[in-house]
Amino acid sequence: MRIVRLASEIDFAGWRAAARRLRAEHQAPDEVLWTVDGEGDLFGDEAKTPAPSPPSFTAPRAFVDLAREVALHRSGERFALLYRLLWRLEREANLMELASDPDVARARHMAQAVSRAAHKMKAFVRLRLVEDAAEETYVAWFEPAHRVTEQVAPFFARRFANMNWSILTPDVCIHWDKAQLRLTAGADPADAPSGDTLEEYWRTYYAATFNPARLKVATMQREMPKRYWRNLPEARLIPELIQSAEGRTDVMVRQAPSEPNRRVVRQAQRLSRDASFEEGAPSSLEEIAAGVDFCRRCELWRDATQGVAGEGPAAAPLMLVGEQPGDQEDLVGRPFVGPAGQMLDRALAEAQVPRDRAYVTNAVKHFRHELRGKRRIHQNPSASHVSACRWWLDAERRIVRPRVIVSLGANAALGVFGKAMPIGKSRGQAFQLTDEAQGVVTYHPSYLLRVPDQDARDQAYAAFVQDLKFAWSLAA
Ligand code: URA
Repeated sequence: MRIVRLASEIDFAGWRAAARRLRAEHQAPDEVLWTVDGEGDLFGDEAKTPAPSPPSFTAPRAFVDLAREVALHRSGERFALLYRLLWRLEREANLMELASDPDVARARHMAQAVSRAAHKMKAFVRLRLVEDAAEETYVAWFEPAHRVTEQVAPFFARRFANMNWSILTPDVCIHWDKAQLRLTAGADPADAPSGDTLEEYWRTYYAATFNPARLKVATMQREMPKRYWRNLPEARLIPELIQSAEGRTDVMVRQAPSEPNRRVVRQAQRLSRDASFEEGAPSSLEEIAAGVDFCRRCELWRDATQGVAGEGPAAAPLMLVGEQPGDQEDLVGRPFVGPAGQMLDRALAEAQVPRDRAYVTNAVKHFRHELRGKRRIHQNPSASHVSACRWWLDAERRIVRPRVIVSLGANAALGVFGKAMPIGKSRGQAFQLTDEAQGVVTYHPSYLLRVPDQDARDQAYAAFVQDLKFAWSLAA
């Protein structure tokens, strides 16, 4: 019996190297034992004997792609099954086309399960803002059905490129700091956080891995041995991560997150489910934040991840109203955190409007989009969506009572004014609104990202900054 020692549960490169050698030695599959011992020295001392040259047979590409997926399955038989298939392929060239063959069927089934697990992880990870972190940071806990975390990490890095985040799983934790992906050992499933305990868990458990005083190097190396780091470009960053943790101990000491008010959440759920209950409109921003997620005033909730309420001080002199949450806002649950938000931040800074004195919200609280393949493409909300969602915007206006409300784009203006306001004609003026606030109308920041001609884009941006300055001069 030959024993193969792979470096990790997902050591596909190790499996491939070992399989090549076993084939060269004509080692039958039922005489091979595949193990994961964390060291990854494949054949132990035996490896010192040079392997005979491998036979000329090359596995078909389709098999290699399938095998890569199967290697991420949690089944203990996966590596043996793959070697058996490889062994048989050398003798049965059309094997992979025999869908009814038990080995082929099993491998296909496993690959599908892995692909489903990756898809679910992409769809269901919910990042949550860590309150009071030194820098804006998001965290999520997820337990993937199979070991797909490293595979999907680049997807999250692309999707949330402008945010610091950590996704904690029992297998491995992935972290993104707006520039690099990093991996650390898996978090402890026995202590799996749920709901509101997530941030606390992140601080007390995961954040400790950044803290040299409490860094669990031994655990980390056991979970992800050094040899395995070599297979993963991201893992090379681990020593650097450990080093850069020095001196950051103080930053880790944070206040525990406050408990959400359950009464408020319950009331908001009741109010927003019962569309006829007009009298009991929300009376605090907490009720709104909890309630929009349960809103059924139009159908947009069905495809959205969550409702996105506004955020900012309850007595902000300035309210900025956008159109609707975009892809990133929908996933994160906060307004203007994606590319349009960056454009808005840049213009606010240039106009010298302090963002922390503005309440930022949207005319429509759920993300309207259509699915094209795996992509979610933004769709404009219709007038009926804006109208249904005015219930929430009006509640925000009643509570915040801003002096000035800036409508960012035509759909925002429809929500704020209750009628169409042509942007070109309405810009640069202050309109008296029924709730004593003054209304200012300007472009939507996404429009500034779309203007094709550079000169026209610069002009539109300058006008946008000018409008924000004007609004702030009325509000401050
Ligand atoms: N666009 C908006 O109108 N609002 C957001 O929150 C994000 C993008």
